[in-house]
Amino acid sequence: MDSQVEQTPHEKHVFPPSPEFRDAAVAGPDLYAAASTDRVGFWADQARELLHWHTPFSRTLDWTNPPVAKWFDDGELNVAYNCLDRHVESGNGERIALYWEGEPGDSRAITYAELTADVKRAANVLTELGVEAGDRVAIYLPMIPEAIVAMLAVARLGAAHSVVFGGFSADSLRARIDDAGAKLVITADGGWRKGKVSALKPAVDAALEPRGDLPAQDTVTNVLVVRRGENEVGWVEGRDIWWHDAMAAAEPEHQPLAFPAENPLFILYTSGTTGKPKGILHTSGGYLTQVAFTHRNVFDLRPESDVYWCTADVGWVTGHSYVAYGPLANGATQVLYEGTPDTPHSGRWWEIIEKYRVTILYTAPTAIRSFMKLGRQIPERFDLSSLRLLGSVGEPINPEAWLWYRHVIGADRTPIVDTWWQTETGAIMISALPGVTEAKPGSAQVPLPGISVDVVDDAGTSVGQGDGLLVVTEPWPSMLRGIWGDEERFRETYWSTFGDRYFAGDGARIDEDGDIWLLGRVDDVMNVSGHRLSTAEIESALVAHHFTAEAAVVGASDDTTGQAVVAFVIIKESQKADAEATDVAAELRSHVAKQIGAIARPRDIYVVAELPKTRSGKIMRRLLRDLAEGREIGDTTTLADTQVMRIIGDKVVR
Ligand code: WTA
Repeated sequence: MDSQVEQTPHEKHVFPPSPEFRDAAVAGPDLYAAASTDRVGFWADQARELLHWHTPFSRTLDWTNPPVAKWFDDGELNVAYNCLDRHVESGNGERIALYWEGEPGDSRAITYAELTADVKRAANVLTELGVEAGDRVAIYLPMIPEAIVAMLAVARLGAAHSVVFGGFSADSLRARIDDAGAKLVITADGGWRKGKVSALKPAVDAALEPRGDLPAQDTVTNVLVVRRGENEVGWVEGRDIWWHDAMAAAEPEHQPLAFPAENPLFILYTSGTTGKPKGILHTSGGYLTQVAFTHRNVFDLRPESDVYWCTADVGWVTGHSYVAYGPLANGATQVLYEGTPDTPHSGRWWEIIEKYRVTILYTAPTAIRSFMKLGRQIPERFDLSSLRLLGSVGEPINPEAWLWYRHVIGADRTPIVDTWWQTETGAIMISALPGVTEAKPGSAQVPLPGISVDVVDDAGTSVGQGDGLLVVTEPWPSMLRGIWGDEERFRETYWSTFGDRYFAGDGARIDEDGDIWLLGRVDDVMNVSGHRLSTAEIESALVAHHFTAEAAVVGASDDTTGQAVVAFVIIKESQKADAEATDVAAELRSHVAKQIGAIARPRDIYVVAELPKTRSGKIMRRLLRDLAEGREIGDTTTLADTQVMRIIGDKVVR
């Protein structure tokens, strides 16, 4: 096994819930009992309790044709109605849905009634532009309320959105627009980042430029542009429309239609082991059931009094499930913050918590580790006493960061939930239930009620206790329904290893208490600051540069970001003279940022003469990782040329 994250379950710290927390907790041990008696019936109960069905379902799960799952498939619902109108109809229209904080310090408080009104208008705008059920709409926006409005308006019409993270390049955006065949793109002039306006519209213009090779310019008929940055933008007459003009002109009323539970809700692209990102497809009823269930029980949510804040961008799955859909389906009040944690000062997050009296904070270990580095004196300057629950997601949280989070941010009082899940799983799968489970730093712990997982060896046999590969053994409501346009890749990636058990791609360990520890990816996917990046995708960006003959990329462990991108490149003979006259590393780093996006920019680039390969020509990344992490080189006996590591090793100086 090739796990990338070293972690030992060292001294046994456990943190039982306080009696006060336990007595008042939303979740109780009865959930585990109910789910273990009748797993499928348990999910049917959750779906009925948590959601409004326009047409009640009579069938809960159809798993007769794995890996194609259908949940609640004769039921009908409207996802946006569930997130908006019904809260207004039940008398909670005046409750704040979003406390939005712009990076420069401007802010807006938006009630459920206001958000519902905006989404109705936006749905009418989209209808006017020809968007219908089944269409795809690309969304490329900063963290502003319009991002949520746009997602829900698309959902309200039974169309599917494809949100593309604003940090992705024009090329990445174009590839996603093409793959999904989007009809419309919703973007902004720009958004605030690190104290200045970062433009977005130019990337959309570049992505839609006719180039002959890809069809984006044919499918996209309009671009809706939100005004946020107030930066100058180019304008294509007839194609581009200001959001505020269209909204002002739109009809205010809109009746939501009911759509089948299995109607597509969104496509979200994520990195896989090949260079091409996968469009993970999620549908409506099962997805919304599990995000609402987990958001309520894992975060101990009391919608009438909590102020919840998930720091993820809507461009990632965490932003879909735990900013857009989960909190709104549950009628929660939440904070949405546009900018970076250190602008204009490094206490910005804590200032926001103090300002809005945030009670539940959900963030990533990489953020916690950066705050740890800066020191506790920064959060200590703010009043964080409103916090009562902390969550972690995206990568393994090392026990040191867990303990710091609990001690410094949670005043030794708050439970911490370490939540394991993926873009593909749609919602949280493994986590403690606060008030029920004792928390153990570093371990994501136990599958949630209604979820069945196992840790198996390469042959698929349960390890019982010990290390192996994580699988999900039974279908779950929010599971991916496919890879957009690539059924074969869907079967191959997740279902060809262990039959009808889902292979997650993560290594895991089960300890003596039966708790699960996640050990990192076992495939060629890296996890940098909680973002998934593919080694193959970065390698192909690198070889697209005229300097590069060959490239190999590895994820090397990094104190702050979990892993960091480290690239080894061989320069073409014919380019050597040019390359020597340039700062090759800087040139290639910015080339990757331009091709994929700044998040993929390698931390280190090493120019080497050779790459270590097996006799069959496969690059031995394990050895490169040893080098990048400054370790003793492991076993080299399977190399075609056993001298090569010595040659490379001599060159690599950090
Ligand atoms: C990793 C993010 C350990 C894991 C929601 C998974 C985690 C990948 C945890 C999915 C956790 C996520 N502990 N590892 N609590 N949460 N991961 O699709 O490797 O961006 O496969 O979804 O992140 O990343 P994705």
